[in-house]
Amino acid sequence: MADRETWATRLGFILASVGSAVGLGNIWRFPFQTAENGGAAFLAVYLAAVVIIGLPALLAEFVIGRRANINAITAFDRLDKPNWKAVGALGVLAGFWTMSYYSVVGGWVIRYVFGSATGAYFGDPGPADYFGMIASGLDAVFLHFVFMAVTVGIVALGVEDGIEKATKLMVPSIVVLMVGLAAYAATLPGGGEGYAFFLTPDLGTIVANFETVVPAAVGQALFSLSLGFSVMITYASYLGKDENLGTDGVSIAAFNTFVGVLAGFVVFPLLFAQGVEVGDAGAGAVFVSVASAFVDLPFGRVLGVVFFGVVLIAALSSAISLLEVVVSYVVDNYRFSRPATAVGLGAVLFVGGIPSAMYDGWLGWFDTVAVNLLLPLAALGVVFFVGWVMAGDAVDEIRQGTGGAETLSVVWLWSLRTVVLVAVAGTLVLSLQGLSAPPL
Ligand code: PHE
Repeated sequence: MADRETWATRLGFILASVGSAVGLGNIWRFPFQTAENGGAAFLAVYLAAVVIIGLPALLAEFVIGRRANINAITAFDRLDKPNWKAVGALGVLAGFWTMSYYSVVGGWVIRYVFGSATGAYFGDPGPADYFGMIASGLDAVFLHFVFMAVTVGIVALGVEDGIEKATKLMVPSIVVLMVGLAAYAATLPGGGEGYAFFLTPDLGTIVANFETVVPAAVGQALFSLSLGFSVMITYASYLGKDENLGTDGVSIAAFNTFVGVLAGFVVFPLLFAQGVEVGDAGAGAVFVSVASAFVDLPFGRVLGVVFFGVVLIAALSSAISLLEVVVSYVVDNYRFSRPATAVGLGAVLFVGGIPSAMYDGWLGWFDTVAVNLLLPLAALGVVFFVGWVMAGDAVDEIRQGTGGAETLSVVWLWSLRTVVLVAVAGTLVLSLQGLSAPPL
């Protein structure tokens, strides 16, 4: 086998991981999960979930990837635990599955960048009808194709020349543009209520809705850190042994949370200032409600291009990671070149996404299966594997490159074995109730 690729720099690895983590989940899913689950109460539980559950689980994926230095499936052979390969395979399958419809949503975002520039939803049809018009059908299939093609192009260029270079440009752009939008949103009269909604925790809400708020927050923490899709296993497999996984993990989790919170600082003042309902959820929520806010604002078209532009970059840098999981497996194990693999898999994914691009109901179903079943199941497998099967080896691996950290590593292992395991298992059980039959 040819030499395996690696990241050129530590920052490159961090930004690529942040690029994966920061996606539609932060800008679209997070604000609406917050809105549905009691505003600031949800934010508080989410922050706790990131630290107590998300961070240890992120480090668990890192440990598998770096120890094995190979894709997420073959990793289990390298670790001499071939029977556990199913865990890696489930993650790869989850990534593949998710990428098919993620790309359709990516296509919608492309549509909104242009639609904002031309003012397509500013008159007749208004934002709500516009979403209905563009979400499904041949146009959606075409833009799904475009989004997939760009993702394939970046992944085909390789880990260093494609993913690392692209995300080095994309992640700073996301932050700069989001800070700009948040600063703008702060100037809107009437936005104050939005901050209040987002930032004043109501303990009563958490207590009263404990069994819905907590799993929603844990699920969001896992999804938003790209866990359960073998992304972080794959990305860490391109790392050297001198890297400090602990500090990298903390930076990535902090950065990701920062962007999620920043998205709240953009979306909530905007919606409250414009008097747009925050409660509606559903796949189209951000598109319809945020677009509605732009309709009546001065320079709404420019704002729309900037906002949806950020969403597009964020979605792309996540899509890259989803495709890379599968490409990495094929390139490691079969004699196909990286570009050919990326194109071939991209073609299969394009076809797999056509039902989601043709019918909204299919997209919703694919999403539910990914987030309510595949993700928590794969994450549970990873946490159990690292905590109870790798055990001492995991502690050994996480300590590499830290120059000590003995106590912290053992605390980490025990947190995986207990709190994290129970929380992820609980999330899985509760989220299974959200599963539904395919919309045939
Ligand atoms: N973390 C991404 C987001 O917040 C979603 C994602 C999950 C991307 C898994 C890649 C892999 O949108």
